[in-house]
Amino acid sequence: MPQSRDEFPMLLNEMGLLGTAVEVGTNRGDYAEHFRNAWRGELLLCVDPWERGYYAGESKHDRAVARRACAWRLKGAVDVGSVVMLPFTSTTMAKAVNEESLDFVYIDGDHSYNGVTADLKAWWPLVKPGGIIAGHDWIPDGWRCYGDGPEVAYASKENLPRAGWPCYVQGAVRDFFGSADRIPPGRFSGLNYMSPEADGGWPSWWVKK
Ligand SMILES: C[S@@+](CC[C@H](N)C(=O)[O-])C[C@H]1O[C@@H](n2cnc3c(N)ncnc32)[C@H](O)[C@@H]1O
Repeated sequence: MPQSRDEFPMLLNEMGLLGTAVEVGTNRGDYAEHFRNAWRGELLLCVDPWERGYYAGESKHDRAVARRACAWRLKGAVDVGSVVMLPFTSTTMAKAVNEESLDFVYIDGDHSYNGVTADLKAWWPLVKPGGIIAGHDWIPDGWRCYGDGPEVAYASKENLPRAGWPCYVQGAVRDFFGSADRIPPGRFSGLNYMSPEADGGWPSWWVKK
């Protein structure tokens, strides 16, 4: 069982899930770079409209910097065709992907309840049987994340009026997979999530289809 999202690539290598993977929300490419370097699969699709950002208050300049940083970081892989940067929203991009064609989907885009739910509805049917869907930020619903450091990840509800991006991953993921009609018989091995300390306080969840 992976204890960190850094172990997903090794898990996929061991499971022979070596076709196409998707990261929904790539930002500066921090995770995409690690994933690409460690995963032996063919193609990683990075889906991010980039200019959208984490929350409404971000400047256009910051978003342009994130996009350039990502392009620079992934340049080698883009040049050899093992990464494609796709500047579209998650649900728009999902419409262009074949059903049950993906080995791995990692959801880390719009963290609102509706955003995560829309991502799950859009991408779950596109994961192949035996593939994995996963996502970042398994932190309590309603907590907001500030800045970049884990020390600010668990800002309390008292801080809600402050700016920050609200996270409703747990509720959306639990509601989606708790609905029996979304769990094809024999294909579901349960909802898994890492300890609250994983990845510096930013744990991931995953489901095998
Ligand atoms: C938390 S960051 C991603 C970080 C990255 N996964 C990592 O770990 O290195 C969230 C990203 O999601 C993108 N985003 C927001 N809404 C999105 C959507 N509807 N579809 C795809 N990406 C989205 C933002 O532009 C931002 O770059």
